[in-house]
Amino acid sequence: MIRRFKPVVFLTCLIPLARLGWKAYNGALGANPIEVITHATGDWTMRFLLITLAITPIRKLTEQLWLIRYRRMFGLFAFFYGTLHFLTYIWLDKFFDVHEMLHDIAKRKFITVGFTGFVLLIPLALTSTTASIRRLGGKRWQALHRLIYISAIAGVIHYLWLVKADIHLPLEYGAILAALLGYRIAVWAGPRLAANKSKSLRDPRVEVPGR
Ligand code: HEM
Repeated sequence: MIRRFKPVVFLTCLIPLARLGWKAYNGALGANPIEVITHATGDWTMRFLLITLAITPIRKLTEQLWLIRYRRMFGLFAFFYGTLHFLTYIWLDKFFDVHEMLHDIAKRKFITVGFTGFVLLIPLALTSTTASIRRLGGKRWQALHRLIYISAIAGVIHYLWLVKADIHLPLEYGAILAALLGYRIAVWAGPRLAANKSKSLRDPRVEVPGR
């Protein structure tokens, strides 16, 4: 069932690209096609990062364990749209002018942060295979893949810093990201807090309020 469904999910993830291609083919990208492509690819990079990060909480809360099989695909689509976004910038926007790009990366804060977010995704894409998990070992692989948290935070800051007026959408992305990271912090901290509490209840040297 999951195997049959996977190609459908894969093709669905390509719809944003197909829509852009269709609009470009029909000359319907408007007066500033580069801006439209940059915005669409940037948006989808952010969305796929959030979808990837949502898999674990949804899987655990709903006990739909099969969802894990889609996490890698969504993560790779975040990288795919991120690469298109970056390519739009270096190719269509800057015409491979390395000097101007380096100047931009160093001087424009939102580009610096976006660039950081994208660079952090590269090792994750390169180690996304099952062979890499085996080679690195589960613990080290997991630690490396926590870079996605920093990449997503960088993505939200990048967006917040580049918008001039309406900060609604970057704030929405930020709120979703905060909830997804908050869930992880709660899962990590919950058992530790409970263990500390029960230890202090057992230890007679610790004064327990209300006893
Ligand atoms: C994790 C990596 C990144 C994410 C998640 C991301 C996300 C976004 C988002 C959501 C937007 C706004 C889309 C909209 O307005 O609808 C955007 C715009 C933009 N991004 Fe990125 N981005 C990333 C990396 C980069 C990189 C590496 C560059 C170039 C070096 C870059 C350059 C730009 C530019 C030039 C814009 C348009 C700015 C404007 O409208 O003035 N981004 N990005």
